Order: sequence, then C-alpha cells, then structure tokens
Amino acid sequence: MSNDPYTLAGAAAAALRAAAGLDSFDVALVMGSGWVPAADALGETVSEIPFTDLPGFSAPVVAGHGGKIRVVRTGAGRHALVFLGRSHLYEGRPVEAVVHGVRTAAAAGVRTIILTNAAGGLRPETQRVGDPVLISDHINMTGANPITGTTFIDLTEVYSKRLRALVREIDPAIAEGVYVAFRGPTYETPAEIRMLRTLGGDLIGMSTVLEAIAAREAGLDVLGLSLVTNPAAGLAGDPLDHEEVLQVGRATAARMGVLLAKVVDRL
Ligand code: 6GU
Repeated sequence: MSNDPYTLAGAAAAALRAAAGLDSFDVALVMGSGWVPAADALGETVSEIPFTDLPGFSAPVVAGHGGKIRVVRTGAGRHALVFLGRSHLYEGRPVEAVVHGVRTAAAAGVRTIILTNAAGGLRPETQRVGDPVLISDHINMTGANPITGTTFIDLTEVYSKRLRALVREIDPAIAEGVYVAFRGPTYETPAEIRMLRTLGGDLIGMSTVLEAIAAREAGLDVLGLSLVTNPAAGLAGDPLDHEEVLQVGRATAARMGVLLAKVVDRL
C-alpha cells in the first residue's frame, strides 16, 4: 500500500463504498467527545464500519470517542457518513492520521463536512455550559499543519458563511465564536487562558482545526460546532476533567442531534 496520504484516503473511500453498498454520500459528520450520543438522533442506521476495517485508520483510545463510521439515512433520505470518534495529535498520532477521516470522506464524494467538538468556554460572561456555538474562525496553536509542500491555501473563510447562516435559520439564538486549538492532552493553565482571551479566542479545544484545513484543501464546505462543556481553567473554581465533558454531551445529545439532522436535510 502506498505511503501517500491521498492515495491511502482513496483506498479507504473505495473500501467504505463497498462496505456501505453505496456510491455516494451527501455529507460527513465528525462527532467529537460529548457528541457521540447525538448521532442516534440523526436518522436510521444503514450500516456501521469499524475504523479498523478501512486502510489507514486505527482505533481511537479515549473514552467517549467511538471508533467506527456509521452510515445514516436521515428523515429526508440523505446519506450521512457519521464518524464516531476521531484521532488527535495528543494520542501521538501523526497529523496525516488526524485528517485521514476527512480525506477519506472527500474521496468518497462528500462535498460538505460537519466538524463537532467539546470545548472549554473562554467567555463565561456570555456562554453557558451545554450550549452549542458555531465556529466562525480558528486559531491553530497545535504547531502542526496537515499540508506540506508549496501549495498556499487560502483560509479566509474556513467555516462556510452559507452553512453558518443555514444553522442560524434553524437556531436563531446560536452564538458564534473563534475556536483555538492546542495540542493537548494537558488542559491549559490560567495564564494561557488569559492569553487566549486577549488574542480573541472564544473556545478552546484539542481538535477540529487540522481537519478543517484538510477539508478546505479538498474543497469541502466546512461547518464547525462546539459544545461548551466547561469554563476554561481559572474562569471557574473547579479543576477540569473528561468525565464532565461526556456528561454534558449526554445531557444535550437529543437537542444537538435534532439540530444536526435539520442542517443535513437542508444542505
Ligand atoms: Cl478547557 N481545553 C482544551 N484544550 N480542551 C477542552 C477544554 C479545555 N474543555 C473541553 N475540551
């Protein structure tokens, strides 16, 4: 098998089409921690393919991150590729592995990708735990980039204005914010959180930005959604823990699933 990540994504897409018995898909969704239960509200499961059945994937290791692609038929008859789990840099995975799902979805014919995540809130003055926030832009502090070479890719509009407007039609009260990504797996210090507020960040997490860059490289329209699971370090009294993130996801799953299903059916 070739070492080229794009060739590998093509092979994974071919295996995915064969396993799903479908030639094309309307949209891909990457379900971050806390979002996996929302997948159940998207529609009827057509099939489920473990990541380990497809070239280039390996099983995620963090609790709350699934490890398979679910093919879902929504109420309006659209076919969605739902990634239950994703790879992260903090797991020690190379950046090519982190974006392999996005490249596979693109090679499988998807034109739109919805990236979800659990994020710390940098603006507790205006954000409530359990609220979804539309990602309007990002700051990539991971130190990584999925693209190598001399192709300069425009990132003026990573997160599609058209898709953001669509979500606001469905949920007019939804907030927008700038998502900052750190490599993790440590949460940030209170000093780092003060820095990020000064820099214009609204949300902090450990995913999404590299996938969004790879998606733009592939020409996909990107929608980004964060679920605010906690105020970031120093902005509330409590230390941060992953179980809290999953708990917020379980509590808001149905609401997020309904929102996503509506978005998919109106693409
Ligand atoms: Cl506060 N930081 C990071 N990096 N990721 C998070 C988070 C905070 N809360 C949820 N995910």
